[in-house]
Amino acid sequence: MQTTLITGASGGIGEALTTRFAERKHNLLLVARNADKLAAQCRQLADKFGITAQYIAADLATPAAPAEIFAETQRRGLEVAVLINNAGIGSGGEFAQLALEAELRLIQLNVAALVALTHLFVPPMQARRSGIVVNVASMAAFMPVPYMATYAASKAFVRSFTEAITEECKPHNVQVLLLFPGLTRTNFNEAAGIAGDLSKGLNTEYTSATQTPQQVADEALKALDAGKQAVISGAMNRLGAKLLALVPAAVTARSLAKSYRQKMGL
Ligand SMILES: NC(=O)c1ccc[n+]([C@@H]2O[C@H](COP(=O)([O-])OP(=O)(O)OC[C@H]3O[C@@H](n4cnc5c(N)ncnc54)[C@H](OP(=O)(O)O)[C@@H]3O)[C@@H](O)[C@H]2O)c1
Repeated sequence: MQTTLITGASGGIGEALTTRFAERKHNLLLVARNADKLAAQCRQLADKFGITAQYIAADLATPAAPAEIFAETQRRGLEVAVLINNAGIGSGGEFAQLALEAELRLIQLNVAALVALTHLFVPPMQARRSGIVVNVASMAAFMPVPYMATYAASKAFVRSFTEAITEECKPHNVQVLLLFPGLTRTNFNEAAGIAGDLSKGLNTEYTSATQTPQQVADEALKALDAGKQAVISGAMNRLGAKLLALVPAAVTARSLAKSYRQKMGL
């Protein structure tokens, strides 16, 4: 059965994408850690949209998880036609003071799991000469972010890796989309332990321009329909990326660090 696999499907941007693909009558395979939430979501999606919705509860920060998910799709006879690598976590604060274990888990989830799932699911797509991969980066992919160093670097990896495999996939007729959300109203800040805590990073306060996950999902689907390779979600973020491109990375990093230390009175 043709299926759309969405990681981080139980909340935020992943949940919004889940609804949008269900509206388009895709059968879904949802992945996240919270089994109860996923089970309830699958029941609702199947009832409301008449699709088949299944889940696998997995911790993608565990190195074995991607291969276990791939094996489980084979056991269930699922053909993953669309892979959405959305699950991700943030972290913030002075790098040297942060728990190393959490920083390495972030890299395992944001980077290694995304690479592994892409490596597992793309070859069958290439063999079928059809398929779609969506990798979720961030505006943080465009700059080094002092006091969010590991998170921004993980998303810079996602950007570079995805831009490269986009070209490798073209001759095989596999479409790859790189999605750059800006700050979005989700559980992300809470999950990263940076919500409302100035000392844990920059620019995490919502404004009237902050997008909803539904807006981000809509921009992603519009970009997919248009055959785009990359989309920055939100007009303000698109402008921000243009401005960032004009400034050397070291200058951006210095200015972000200065502004952080001023806010903190350091
Ligand atoms: N929100 C923003 O401001 C923002 C901005 C730019 C980019 N992004 C990116 O957008 C993506 C989605 O973030 P979001 O804002 O929607 O965050 P969110 O609301 O915190 O949702 C994260 C999703 O990932 C799942 N997840 C977290 N850790 C996991 C793990 N170890 N294994 C499996 N699943 C895990 C969560 O479910 P469980 O807890 O049940 O596992 C949840 O479904 C991330 O890649 C993030 O970096 C977000």
